[in-house]
Amino acid sequence: MKTNNLLITGGAGFIGSHVVRFFVNKYREYQIFNLDELTYAGNLENLKDVEDSPNYTFIKGNINNEDFIDQLFIKYRFDGVIHLAAESHVDRSIKDPLAFVRTNVIGTINLLNAFKACWQDNFEGKRFYHISTDEVYGTLGETGLFTERTAYDPNSPYSASKASSDHFVRAYGETYGLPYVISNCSNNYGPNQFPEKLIPLFINNILNNKPLPVYGDGNYTRDWLYVIDHALAIDLVFHKGKNKETYNLGGFNEWKNIDLVTLLCKQMDDKLGKPIGTSEKLITYVKDRPGHDLRYAIDATKINKELGWGPSVTFEEGLSKTIDWYLSNEEWLNHVTSGDYQKYYLKQYS
Ligand code: NAD
Ligand code: DAU
Repeated sequence: MKTNNLLITGGAGFIGSHVVRFFVNKYREYQIFNLDELTYAGNLENLKDVEDSPNYTFIKGNINNEDFIDQLFIKYRFDGVIHLAAESHVDRSIKDPLAFVRTNVIGTINLLNAFKACWQDNFEGKRFYHISTDEVYGTLGETGLFTERTAYDPNSPYSASKASSDHFVRAYGETYGLPYVISNCSNNYGPNQFPEKLIPLFINNILNNKPLPVYGDGNYTRDWLYVIDHALAIDLVFHKGKNKETYNLGGFNEWKNIDLVTLLCKQMDDKLGKPIGTSEKLITYVKDRPGHDLRYAIDATKINKELGWGPSVTFEEGLSKTIDWYLSNEEWLNHVTSGDYQKYYLKQYS
């Protein structure tokens, strides 16, 4: 699979920015278009190092705007799409489910329709890659793993919207022959993650001596993957994944939240030169998240066997690198927490 004009949606977000950087640097012969609405989660400061690359173009726009998306496909005739743009935070979806339907479901359908109209059934050499989540499978008990054959059973408005968009992608494959791949990934962590998600929120709170709000009893389990390993997997699935297939991606790396937070506290104390135990004192148990999924764990055997992919760092290494990144990018963190990052677009592109 090769492409000429590659559209990456949501490229100013956490995972998207790593994917954009990776593709811009590796595939000089591709023209890479990053389409992003720059919601609160989109931050062009994530991409300062590639913004002047000759094979990179940023387009500010909303995937919910059907006419705009149609026109964009007419203009650029994207033959590859890697679709990451989404509302991504579970807690926000509990407060405002419709925002998740608009972007994650309708926005995805707008892209599918525009892709379909652009290529008029001549799909040879084209590919639509939908980036999804393990949360579509619902929750596991104490044992077992999610495989590609696990039935969908989403529990939050976020995961219901992602499940719905996965179904639409599959349906367009079956009904119209639209060539697609989907990957369902576990929890990512690493540089540039917005400090509303567990790891960057807690790093920021420790830096500011604020409480670390652990939901419920803290015995919820997630399977953590370093974001660069996700970008490497996306490259492989986009270029070598089989048409109409789903690939599960995970870190073979399960942690109970409380154990993860304890490790994070130890690493932070160590790096900040504080007595061990200082940050742990900030742990505060708070009201649980409604509908909180007990455990996610991915069986990533399929991508490992078919495409030779596996995580490249241990969690201890990845977490340490992540903390180092936040400690040495205080300006990024300050801009994000003060809202100043939203001025960057005006400065750079006005
Ligand atoms: P993020 O919230 O950091 O970034 C989302 C990006 O999409 C932002 O740049 C935002 O501006 C953009 N966006 C949002 N709504 C838009 C719209 N209507 N039009 C155009 N752009 C819009 O998200 P993330 O954590 O980087 O996740 C990226 C994708 O990966 C999502 O589809 C998410 O469901 C999926 N995913 C995330 C994780 C994770 O752990 N973060 C794990 C598995 C899958
Ligand atoms: O599994 C993949 C998913 O991982 C992605 O699809 C989502 O986009 C991404 O946000 C993430 O969802 P989670 O809900 O698992 O991530 P979050 O960082 O919000 O929470 C991780 C765990 O930590 C979860 O069990 C809830 C808990 N938590 C979270 C926050 C923000 C807390 O205990 N306290 C908190 O303040």
